[in-house]
Amino acid sequence: MSNVIVLGSQWGDEGKGKIVDLLSEQAGTIIRFQGGNNAGHTVMVGDKTYILHLVPSGILHDDTKSVIGNGLVVDPKALLKEINDLKSMGIDCRGKLFISDAANLIMPYHKLLDGAREARRKGTKIGTTGRGIGPAYEDKVARTGIRFADIEDTPAFKEKVDLLVNDKNLILKHVLEHSGPLLDSDQVYRELIGFGKELSPFVCDTSELVAEELKQGQNLLFEGAQGTFLDIDHGTYPFVTSSNTVAGGACSGGGIGPTQIDRVAGITKAYTTRVGEGPFPTELFDETGELLAKEGHEFGATTGRPRRCGWFDACLLKKAIRVNGITDLVVTKLDVLDKLETIKICTSYQDKAGNSYDSLPSKQSLQKELTPVYEEVAGWKSRTSGITAYDELPEQARKYIERLEKILGVPACIVSTGPKRDETIIRKSLF
Ligand code: GDP
Ligand code: IMO
Ligand code: MG
Repeated sequence: MSNVIVLGSQWGDEGKGKIVDLLSEQAGTIIRFQGGNNAGHTVMVGDKTYILHLVPSGILHDDTKSVIGNGLVVDPKALLKEINDLKSMGIDCRGKLFISDAANLIMPYHKLLDGAREARRKGTKIGTTGRGIGPAYEDKVARTGIRFADIEDTPAFKEKVDLLVNDKNLILKHVLEHSGPLLDSDQVYRELIGFGKELSPFVCDTSELVAEELKQGQNLLFEGAQGTFLDIDHGTYPFVTSSNTVAGGACSGGGIGPTQIDRVAGITKAYTTRVGEGPFPTELFDETGELLAKEGHEFGATTGRPRRCGWFDACLLKKAIRVNGITDLVVTKLDVLDKLETIKICTSYQDKAGNSYDSLPSKQSLQKELTPVYEEVAGWKSRTSGITAYDELPEQARKYIERLEKILGVPACIVSTGPKRDETIIRKSLF
């Protein structure tokens, strides 16, 4: 029996969805522990493509339970749409999906606030997904959020919602100079009660459920969203999301103690991408960057925005390994590098004064001026797409993986060579 955290070790979109789906074959319960529908996790099985935003990527397996943990912020409208979309693709969530009664809700005013704040951030836009994530987490921490457990059709709850809507309308109008229509609190309330009723069959104390699964000897799989450098504490602040994406978040957001965790798998692309604003030392602005974007189909799974692309950054990964306690690496999208003559790995940075850094410094102004120092290795210039045995990889591709392992000091237990479930090399089982 083994309990594993799967998380992103870069800026998100590392292929967590594919790997969680694959590993779900061996897990009884899959638990999302943070974030919201800012996430877009793509799972390709056969000729079908599923893009999951809130529902854990283990839902496609018949014998699994999928948990939306207390650490998430949940837009009930988006979740109902996702449940219905899955149903139309033949996946029934009833009896398989469980939503924490302690998870906070994303309310319509959070989405308006997200947009209005971004519009006012002159020159310092974060490039949020516009899903209301930041404002919902702000309310959670301010203790003015609404949790699933609190929804009830009573005059006292109506009064609470009225007050919240009116407060937010005042902020939108007078502080953020929002020019669009404001919210009608009666309508917000009615919708909320409706969503609450529709979702109530799924809502429970999920930490109890997880404890029971543990007792039954089930393997638990914790599914992270976003990535380490979008973490509110350890990421490239303020160009981050509003939750703890790191391994510690799996405990607080999944309702489990750290003593129950056996392994932490860090998913990393064989190169680097980022959506939205913020520092990205190895970003490429040339034809190699364009090739990575084209070969990797690098467009956001949630917003459709083009992803910025660059070389693999070992400095980032070393920090990700440190702050998450990563025990195993999963290297994805190796096939995207197939056409390259040579490949670069960033091993340190240099600032304008010639100082050297082997980790991204916290100071924002410094992060912007860093130049990466690269080690260059030979490419393999042949097709790796769909290869399932490590020995069948071209020699230079194996050398690349082994060089990453050497620099990072952590083994790559899985290498992914394509978007589909079976386009994977498993070198060592995680369970
Ligand atoms: P996530 O947010 O970490 O789940 O990742 P996304 O789903 O947003 O983005 C990863 C994209 O890469 C998806 O379109 C996947 O289908 C695709 N993908 C995952 N692994 C591989 C791989 O090894 N090779 C290729 N070519 N595509 C992959
Ligand atoms: P998955 O789980 C990549 C980015 C946004 C923006 C910043 C803050 O698919 O890897 P937010 O809406 O969270 O307030 O936006 O975080 N971001 C992601 N980037 N993958 C994601 O999720 C992301 N979720 C948020 O682009 O820069
Ligand atoms: Mg994604």
